[in-house]
Amino acid sequence: MKTHRILFQPMGQRGIFPEGTSILEAARRLNIGLLNVCGGNGTCGHCKVQVVSGAVSDRTQEEEQFLSPEEIESGFRLACRTIPLEDTTLQVPAEPLSAPQRTQVECRIAYPSGIGMAAFNPSAPMGLAMDLGTTKIALFLVDLETGETLASQGWMNPQIKYGEDVISRIALSDHDQRMQKTVVNELNSWIQKITKDIGRHPEDIQQAVAVGNTAMHHLFLNLPVSQLAKAPYVPAIKSEVNIKAREVGLKLAENAILHLPPLIGGFIGSDHVAAILASDHQQSTGTRLILDIGTNTEISLVAPGFISSVSCASGPAFEGAHIRHGMRGAEGAMEHVRINNCQVDVQTIGDIPPTGICGSGILDAVSQLLENGIIDKTGVMKDPGRTRIRNNEREFVLFSGDGANGTREITLTQKDVREVQLAKAAIQTGIKALLQNHHLTVKELSQVLVAGAFGNYIDLESAKAIGLLPMLPSSRFVQMGNAAGAGARMILVSALERKKSLEIAAKATLLELAVKPDFRKLFMESLVLEPYASSVGVNTP
Ligand code: FES
Repeated sequence: MKTHRILFQPMGQRGIFPEGTSILEAARRLNIGLLNVCGGNGTCGHCKVQVVSGAVSDRTQEEEQFLSPEEIESGFRLACRTIPLEDTTLQVPAEPLSAPQRTQVECRIAYPSGIGMAAFNPSAPMGLAMDLGTTKIALFLVDLETGETLASQGWMNPQIKYGEDVISRIALSDHDQRMQKTVVNELNSWIQKITKDIGRHPEDIQQAVAVGNTAMHHLFLNLPVSQLAKAPYVPAIKSEVNIKAREVGLKLAENAILHLPPLIGGFIGSDHVAAILASDHQQSTGTRLILDIGTNTEISLVAPGFISSVSCASGPAFEGAHIRHGMRGAEGAMEHVRINNCQVDVQTIGDIPPTGICGSGILDAVSQLLENGIIDKTGVMKDPGRTRIRNNEREFVLFSGDGANGTREITLTQKDVREVQLAKAAIQTGIKALLQNHHLTVKELSQVLVAGAFGNYIDLESAKAIGLLPMLPSSRFVQMGNAAGAGARMILVSALERKKSLEIAAKATLLELAVKPDFRKLFMESLVLEPYASSVGVNTP
């Protein structure tokens, strides 16, 4: 078979690949983390690379759409659409490399004391809790007798090279069994490292618990996933799973048991069950709302008599995708934005000049544009004096990069605002639908618990101002951090908490938004950028 050499610069990584291998596929095989939000479908435009030498396949329609005339002139191509026809050298700009995101390992809520393992498995000295997120993975080594966390580690999910979102990975996984191995290999090396750091060995780990959304759970267990990509999104299995850890390839003690708590259904996985469990340890009584905001947002309404859950397709805008200058929450990302008339103040992660804007910054920016009258509540940019037209689109300049220190101009476009509106409308619709179904109003919520990394860093006032979260006093909100990780540790060390997690999953009912008769109306109303409070949630006939 004919082969070509492909060299990636500036990292200097090279390989020999069979004819017909795309540049993105070659990057994946070399473990080069090229951003591929759409999983290589040619629909996100993030995988830009520059061809320095070598003939490549003809430009495609998708490339005409995503590459500017200047980029085409300079030899830029989309890695997923381009196939080298001979030995090729490529230059990878910093932007499409998957920058490591700050990983939220810890939970901000109080970790309950006195949940030791003695009654559960007194012979097991050390346990492992894993939170398998779509973007990030967190590991915790736990003393099973005291419940104390001995070490923790968070890092990017290596499956990202197969696609940033679960749908892209699901599309690939039926043809590519490497997905499961990729994550297990990475887990084994981190387990090796963190056990060594505390003077222990992976073989000391007798018990393990893994939580994750439905897709991560299924991919980890090598279960079929194609049905998760289409309605009604039925999981292959919902009940708890208890197997030998070695059956999935984890290198722990010879007979170590791996427990995966049950799923609620649809996209609502055991990570959400674990988050609800962790939120149980808050002081609040009464009705509470628990949200984990991501590409898919899981929301549960928890009251003494019921748990009702909904999954919303909120899209990747708050992860920085589909936003002109969006990026993940990595160094250089604008994480907070304040606008006073035309004066823009930004705070970046790492206090360095901005290279893009992440979810919390995007939320702030939209809220501030609204407050300053630069957009109206329908999201229209209406101020020609403070905005401009570029590439046939109106935009607001957040940062005027001058090229020094690698800085560039960062703007928020009319389309970016629309993406945020769609994301927040999906989430607001989910919240309102849950409240309506139980004849409750916003004011009756005693607590709103926001889990996950995005929820941890957002400005609650910005979220309330555009209607992403309900308008309630700040004292009723808790930004929990990694609640799923905290819940996984509780399930690991306590038989009682494990039992509770089974009860949570059994009690939770899934609300199917798509079959709700007034779903469309609710969604359209939720597109409006304004606070919502007492008037919503009452079920109208
Ligand atoms: S366009 Fe999305 S990965 Fe290439």
